[in-house]
Amino acid sequence: VARVQAISSITKCMDTIPSEYIRSENEQPAATTLQGVVLEVPVIDISNVDDDEEKLVKEIVEASKEWGIFQVINHGIPDEVIENLQKVGKEFFEEVPQEEKELIAKKPGAQSLEGYGTSLQKEIEGKKGWVDHLFHKIWPPSAINYRYWPKNPPSYREANEEYAKWLRKVADGIFRSLSLGLGLEGHEMMEAAGSEDIVYMLKINYYPPCPRPDLALGVVAHTDMSYITLLVPNEVQGLQVFKDGHWYDVNYIPNAIIVHIGDQVEILSNGKYKSVYHRTTVNKYKTRMSWPVFLEPSSEHEVGPIPKLINEANPPKFKTKKYKDYVYCKLNKLPQ
Ligand code: SIN
Ligand code: FE2
Repeated sequence: VARVQAISSITKCMDTIPSEYIRSENEQPAATTLQGVVLEVPVIDISNVDDDEEKLVKEIVEASKEWGIFQVINHGIPDEVIENLQKVGKEFFEEVPQEEKELIAKKPGAQSLEGYGTSLQKEIEGKKGWVDHLFHKIWPPSAINYRYWPKNPPSYREANEEYAKWLRKVADGIFRSLSLGLGLEGHEMMEAAGSEDIVYMLKINYYPPCPRPDLALGVVAHTDMSYITLLVPNEVQGLQVFKDGHWYDVNYIPNAIIVHIGDQVEILSNGKYKSVYHRTTVNKYKTRMSWPVFLEPSSEHEVGPIPKLINEANPPKFKTKKYKDYVYCKLNKLPQ
């Protein structure tokens, strides 16, 4: 498999890229990004939850309805925990020999997403994204398959386990606010989502330098299938969100956690919260990396609008179905 990391080192001194990475004109970032805009994705301080929970819930609800994305600051995860996660992930991509990385590669045709890889399917009009990745679960312990965790650097496991532990607290708080915002008890949304069975799937995106960032995309426009996604990027700009007909850059804030509302929370909320349509751009000289964690239902878990939200005036806008069936339909572009 041709890794984008390898293509990047070949194209380093060129001013062109292989044609399968050149997006059609209606997708090219240079042609489609709104320049010089002031609107920004909401930034929410979640440290004062005990002082004024009502205000916090209001901010989260507003952002989840209007944008489907927000950044949280003062979330309680020590900077050092995030820095360690990023350090060991970067070392895996940049310091571990390629042969060793290939030992944990996803096998072609494998059921599970887990492993090191490069998107093979040519998503839209035969085009590819300028990105390599690593997928593995980080929670719950019973779902973890350490076969897909890098052995090197040796501190990889500890750094990831530590991050997972802290991230769960942030996730619990966000679920609580989203639940209260629907007029439910704080625990109800998490329960509808499957509580302890929620799977935390980590992805590391590795976007090497690209000589034509005006023509290529990292990850093409999509909404996440998860309940929510909690993400930390490195300092290289690249995440964009679509709102009111325009693409906006998401400002980098060191050590903030970016929260995406995913399809499953849109469904649970019967459409009150919106999953965010987003994509990533790449950089000419710098490597961009990001660490999204997708909080997903277990595959047999049934997801549908929370029954208490449904009445004659508010009929269900979505079918209730097993998560694995949702995924199947989405990946095969079948109606839901
Ligand atoms: C993604 O949403 O798929 C990637 C997000 C990012 O790299 O910031
Ligand atoms: Fe995404």
